Amino acid sequence: MSAALEIAGTQLEAWRARMEEALARRLPRAEELPERLHAAMRYSVLGGGKRVRPILLLATAHALGLQEAEVEAAACALELVHVYSLVHDDMPAMDDDDLRRGRPTCHKAYDEATALLVGDALQSLAFQLLAHDPSLPQDPQVRVRLVGLLAEAIGSRGMAGGQAIDLESEGLKIGIEQVERMHSLKTGALIRASVMMGAACASGLDPALERALAGFAAPIGLAFQIQDDLLDELSDTATLGKAAGADREHGKSTYPSILGIPASQERVRRLHQQALDSLAPLGRGADALRAVTDWLLVRRN
Ligand code: IPE
Ligand code: IPE
Ligand code: MG
Ligand code: MG
Ligand code: MG
Repeated sequence: MSAALEIAGTQLEAWRARMEEALARRLPRAEELPERLHAAMRYSVLGGGKRVRPILLLATAHALGLQEAEVEAAACALELVHVYSLVHDDMPAMDDDDLRRGRPTCHKAYDEATALLVGDALQSLAFQLLAHDPSLPQDPQVRVRLVGLLAEAIGSRGMAGGQAIDLESEGLKIGIEQVERMHSLKTGALIRASVMMGAACASGLDPALERALAGFAAPIGLAFQIQDDLLDELSDTATLGKAAGADREHGKSTYPSILGIPASQERVRRLHQQALDSLAPLGRGADALRAVTDWLLVRRN
């Protein structure tokens, strides 16, 4: 492993530990009524996952000279929404998966009705944090921007819309432009929001830097889902913590199923380079963001 990646590894672990504590503190206690719902929320959010979206927000904030403590609640909101999307994605009406983050999926460990409600409640809690968490910047304009960015990223013109296209396309042969659009919506939109919400916490940000971050976030978001497709084909269930080969089994339209594996890998490499090139205006301050980008390129799960 290169020295840069080792340093990044230490930082990533520190950010993950911070997020575990920050999320645990903000989730309702499992003893609070209704206990089963609260236990299922904690089961789904805590103790697993790479925390990619919070880490992207923290690294962006770092590049802009913000304190971690003042953006931590926004990072929590991203992870809560992401976990909501996973809990619903795994349900029988969607991808029907039994394993997530190396453990039974929420509807397997609990039941389907509880899994639906876990998703609903995590989404609400995310917006509640953006509205009221005392640690976020008090400027109401910042909070409104954060709410808007997250809402746009996950609605029918974002994650939920991409998920709808994903399900409609099962078993069909769709073109690469349509797959790209689906990926940019179902996964890219929330990844982009992770970076842009970090930027939104910096009041009075130079528009040139905001544009540079937008230019970084879009290719990273698309690359992330192409890699997810590649890992589904190339990795194994133990490494992934979720069922490998599930896309092929469900007749999903993926990058590898249309372009093949080498061309999909090449596309990922190009998107990462495009993302790194976009960061130039941020100078050395964005080194942590560059290290996160390098990690995303070599991730194994
Ligand atoms: C998996 O996301 C689902 C996609 C949107 C591709 P992650 O790969 O970030 O999953 P966790 O959070 O690490 O479990
Ligand atoms: C999931 O895409 C995207 C969202 C959850 C929004 P996938 O269905 O490919 O994710 P995995 O492979 O189950 O994690
Ligand atoms: Mg899916
Ligand atoms: Mg899935
Ligand atoms: Mg997948």
